[in-house]
Amino acid sequence: MAVCKLGRVQCWEAFVSFLPILSACGDGCYCMGLDRKTKKTVDGAGSILVTGGAGFIGSNFVLDWLAAGGGSVVNLDKLTYAGNPANLASVAVDPAYSFVHGDICDVELVASLLREHRPRAVIHFAAESHVDRSIVGPEAFLRTNIDGTFTLLRAAREYYDSLAGEERERFRFLHVSTDEVYGTLTPEAPAFHEDTPYAPNSPYAASKASSDHLVRAWVHTYGLPAMITNCSNNYGPYQFPEKLIPLMIANAQQGKALPVYGDGQQVRDWLYVGDHCRALRTVLERGRVGETYNVGGGNQRSNLEVVTTVCALLDEMVQESKFKPHRQLVKYVTDRPGHDRRYAIDARKLEGELGWRAEESFEAGLRKTVEWYLANAAWVEGVTSGTYQQWMKQNYAGREVGDSASAVAKPKTTAVAESMR
Ligand code: NAD
Ligand code: TYD
Repeated sequence: MAVCKLGRVQCWEAFVSFLPILSACGDGCYCMGLDRKTKKTVDGAGSILVTGGAGFIGSNFVLDWLAAGGGSVVNLDKLTYAGNPANLASVAVDPAYSFVHGDICDVELVASLLREHRPRAVIHFAAESHVDRSIVGPEAFLRTNIDGTFTLLRAAREYYDSLAGEERERFRFLHVSTDEVYGTLTPEAPAFHEDTPYAPNSPYAASKASSDHLVRAWVHTYGLPAMITNCSNNYGPYQFPEKLIPLMIANAQQGKALPVYGDGQQVRDWLYVGDHCRALRTVLERGRVGETYNVGGGNQRSNLEVVTTVCALLDEMVQESKFKPHRQLVKYVTDRPGHDRRYAIDARKLEGELGWRAEESFEAGLRKTVEWYLANAAWVEGVTSGTYQQWMKQNYAGREVGDSASAVAKPKTTAVAESMR
């Protein structure tokens, strides 16, 4: 049997029965993520516990980790609307991967997973992650992001205290957080660095800031060997289409309105998810305990620039589209309350200390992302029915709509939910 460049079995039989999932190695090889020592369970001491691994960044991380031969992964995920096991279909049969359907707030469950699998690290992604949803209903954000992190920290501390020797030396808790904890920047202000004071502005950002503070306290008070990463806006495959880039791709393909909040001049620093996964692996392996590392793509773009670039890519890639030029679908809509104007990350600490660098240019990363969404229409369809439609209505109904930023200041009577039908 042939072996791929990662030393994995190329299983043609499995390939035929799982046609849509070619990316286990990230280069379209047919190994299906099966290790050469296929039936061997990877030693528990070398495993990692990932929370929220069925979401956007978590699933990219799990695929990346397994493809790089990182060892076995236990994925604890509640499968909220944002969690999707289909993201991990390509590794579902990999003996190095196991999935646990459960809540990070369930302390018994978390403690038993740590006892049973004896992971060498916990990588904590699980969160409620959408700012707009946090404005509509902050409760779930406080529960998962704060109580959930507290639960994990409690259980991790107990587990860590039970370890000795090399297992104890090696154990790490990596908390994945956001640049939104730092608040907002003026156009001229220097980018966020690790010592920028926290000033969260949305319920989401406040809940993530709280979780960061808890992690810090567990390091300082109990000696838990934890690290925090604060990253900028991610984009790439498997992102739920409530976030800016996949929402714009999905709507534009269907000729629906592209709702740009306010004047569209808010700036985000876009980070390709593959670069982020590599940064997390780097911090996990070589980061200093108790430290925070900022992760950014070095790609500051206004929202309007992002949306029009997506439109231009679709014009080029979907020649037959009857909605060309897709840019005509842009609608300026009532702004998000408390909308942060600009985020930008200074990643020099991670670059200088650990040698990580963002490799993907925004243009190339966005092109790959649009291509992925075009090639995975069934995935998009699978996540945009039922409750997704309800969310669209809830978030966009009632936002006034205009064809230019100034038109929103003097609103027309149309509501955007109508033009998104
Ligand atoms: P996501 O919303 O796509 O996925 C979150 C995952 O967590 C889902 O699989 C969901 O089912 C799971 N989850 C939610 N509540 C849970 C609970 N109580 N117990 C167990 N699982 C639960 O989020 P994402 O975009 O992949 O973000 C991952 C992490 O990265 C989050 O902590 C987020 O704050 C952070 N982050 C994201 C971005 C970004 O641009 N997406 C940027 C900075 C930081
Ligand atoms: P989003 O993807 O929700 O990420 P975040 O709020 O965490 O930065 O939004 C990115 C930017 O795009 C943000 O400035 C809000 C803006 N935005 C729109 O203009 N229209 C939309 O429909 C959405 C979802 C976001």
